[in-house]
Amino acid sequence: MTNESNTNYDTVFGKMAVEQGLCTPEELRRCIDEVDNRRAKNPVLLKDLMVEKGFVTASQVNRLHNAIREAKVATATHQIPGYQVLGKIGAGAMAVVYKARQLSLNRIVAIKVLPKRFTENKDYVERFYKEGQAAGKLNHPHIVQAVDVGEAGGYHYFVMEYVEGKTLYEDIAAGKIFGEKEALDIIIQVAEALRHAHSMGLIHRDVKPKNIMINKEGIVKLADMGLARETTDIEAAKTEKGKAYGTPYYISPEQIRGEMDINGRADIYGLGATFYHLVTGRVPYMADDPVEVMKKHLRDELVPPDHINTTLSAGVSEVIEVMMAKNKADRYSNVDELLVDLKAVRAGQAPVLAHKRIDVSALGQLEDGEAVEASAKVDYEQAISRYKTAILILAAASVFLLLIIILLLFR
Ligand SMILES: Nc1ncnc2c1ncn2[C@@H]1O[C@H](COP(=O)(O)OP(=O)(O)OP(=O)(O)O)[C@@H](O)[C@H]1O
Ligand SMILES: [Mg+2]
Repeated sequence: MTNESNTNYDTVFGKMAVEQGLCTPEELRRCIDEVDNRRAKNPVLLKDLMVEKGFVTASQVNRLHNAIREAKVATATHQIPGYQVLGKIGAGAMAVVYKARQLSLNRIVAIKVLPKRFTENKDYVERFYKEGQAAGKLNHPHIVQAVDVGEAGGYHYFVMEYVEGKTLYEDIAAGKIFGEKEALDIIIQVAEALRHAHSMGLIHRDVKPKNIMINKEGIVKLADMGLARETTDIEAAKTEKGKAYGTPYYISPEQIRGEMDINGRADIYGLGATFYHLVTGRVPYMADDPVEVMKKHLRDELVPPDHINTTLSAGVSEVIEVMMAKNKADRYSNVDELLVDLKAVRAGQAPVLAHKRIDVSALGQLEDGEAVEASAKVDYEQAISRYKTAILILAAASVFLLLIIILLLFR
């Protein structure tokens, strides 16, 4: 940061601190004078000096800092040609989402504005446009439609269909535990969305309750489809310890391991973890630290959902367990397979494929058991034949000895 931009930032920061009643104009003036005096030999930022003097707390500084950042983003958003911004809808760990009017078609849309640091990563920007274009080709009632991508005032933005409703996360956060049927209805709609995306070669990579919306008519919409992720997400989560990136409660083991060939089975895992949370009220693996959560995804045995919520059917529990198998080869091969079981369970039947998978592994164990039995039999027969040989040798030796005795006696 240059001195000039420091000064600009300080001016905005000081002004907002006074406006919000965190310090008096007189206290601010004293601090600004000290910042000026120290500039040559012992430079200090106004915000740090104000904390040092006890005029503001560190958390107040953080809040002001975020407010300034959002104000900057809002200014940039107001400059997006073709759109009239109407207000902020929400903010995730990284981006801010606005409600806006698309002037050409006179319709309401949502615009997601990404942080500036994304723009500095050429590789990311390339993927952002590539995935955005791929998402533009999708057309499905359960996918939040991608409308446009672009850049304004140094910020990249993603324009999408506006969903008037709520995210699944809001219900979960309010303590709702979903009944089996309601959860199945939601999960099936998301699975239909994923089937369409996967058939067009797009993997979501971030299926979770915050990215599943329910509109006013009760229709489920999968959000953020085609929004490129940072390749360094995992590293970022590790270093930031969840402060800025959210805790990875729904991420697949292969994504944690940083595998390159992520396929649709990663989305099946994320959807399985979401399903688990809906029907049990708990995330599958819980820890204070994101790194610990990730380790649990890799190593810990999953507590079957019907052990937590005993009203669940064995079938639904089996389906979730297969969706969340640590080894992707043990999961459903694709969403078509998953849908067969989801629909069977919804119709009150046993899941066909989950059963088969469990049967196959049981068969494996059975075959192993037979092999053990067979090899025991082989050992037994060998022992008998060894025993028989020993008896024959002994008998032959006795006969031989008897012959010698007889010969000696009758000589
Ligand atoms: N298309 C949309 N229509 C209406 N509201 C939306 C839309 N997309 C996102 N939102 C709202 O904006 C909020 C922020 O979305 P964003 O994708 O930035 O973060 P998130 O998915 O909630 O969390 P995270 O950043 O941890 O992934 C959402 O929680 C949702 O309430
Ligand atoms: Mg989102």
